[in-house]
Amino acid sequence: MPGWIVPPPREPAKTPEEFCREREAKIAWLIRQGLLRSERIRQAMLTVRREEFIPRRYRDYAYEEVPLPLPGEQATISCPHSYPLFYEPLGLDQGHRFLEVGLGSGYGTALAREVVGGEGLVVAIEIDPVTLAFARKNLERAGYRDLTLVLGDGGLGYPPLAPYDRICITAAGPRIPPPLVEQLKDGGRLIAPVREGDEQNLVLLEKRGKKVRRKVICQVLYVPLRGRYGA
Ligand SMILES: C[S@@+](CC[C@H](N)C(=O)[O-])C[C@H]1O[C@@H](n2cnc3c(N)ncnc32)[C@H](O)[C@@H]1O
Repeated sequence: MPGWIVPPPREPAKTPEEFCREREAKIAWLIRQGLLRSERIRQAMLTVRREEFIPRRYRDYAYEEVPLPLPGEQATISCPHSYPLFYEPLGLDQGHRFLEVGLGSGYGTALAREVVGGEGLVVAIEIDPVTLAFARKNLERAGYRDLTLVLGDGGLGYPPLAPYDRICITAAGPRIPPPLVEQLKDGGRLIAPVREGDEQNLVLLEKRGKKVRRKVICQVLYVPLRGRYGA
């Protein structure tokens, strides 16, 4: 994983109580940083035990601000702050039809499921079969069954359940895949890291009829988008 220092793998030693304290402290820190504002996202981050989505020998680092490697090729679980960083500007909320491109560990998918609630929809696409199997196991163990998990190229979206209110891409490509903009509802939003020169910008799109408004949120560092719209 170029650009990040991965902590050394080790046997997990932390207790559930320690993880719980770290989770609460992380949420308080995200609020103080101004990154976490919505009550539904805060509740989701309290409910989902992030340590359950991390490979055993990296589990003790669950609440540290570092991406951690996952089984599969070029897959990571993003830093804890990435989730409010993406979901707050997206305005992810109750009842939304949500599409995630890049399932990774399944942690972001579980958070989204908590935020959109029973009346919403969550579809997540992963291109790497080994990573998908890891995420599926994590999500099932954590009790999330009402999700549509798809093996494939997320750049093509998932037309059978389109249109979507919100779309989140968690890998960086040179542009936002046009099929995803097509599968966005009128008034819908999409967020994605986009490679621009040597940098990556987190870009928010809002679809208004035939127009698409674009806003750059900040610089980020994500694994490359693979597939048709990848490098
Ligand atoms: C940063 S990780 C995802 C982190 C994830 N949100 C989580 O909570 O663990 C990015 C993921 O995107 C996947 N990916 C890359 N290109 C893809 C594509 N075209 N379609 C679907 N998944 C893709 C990678 O295999 C990787 O698992």
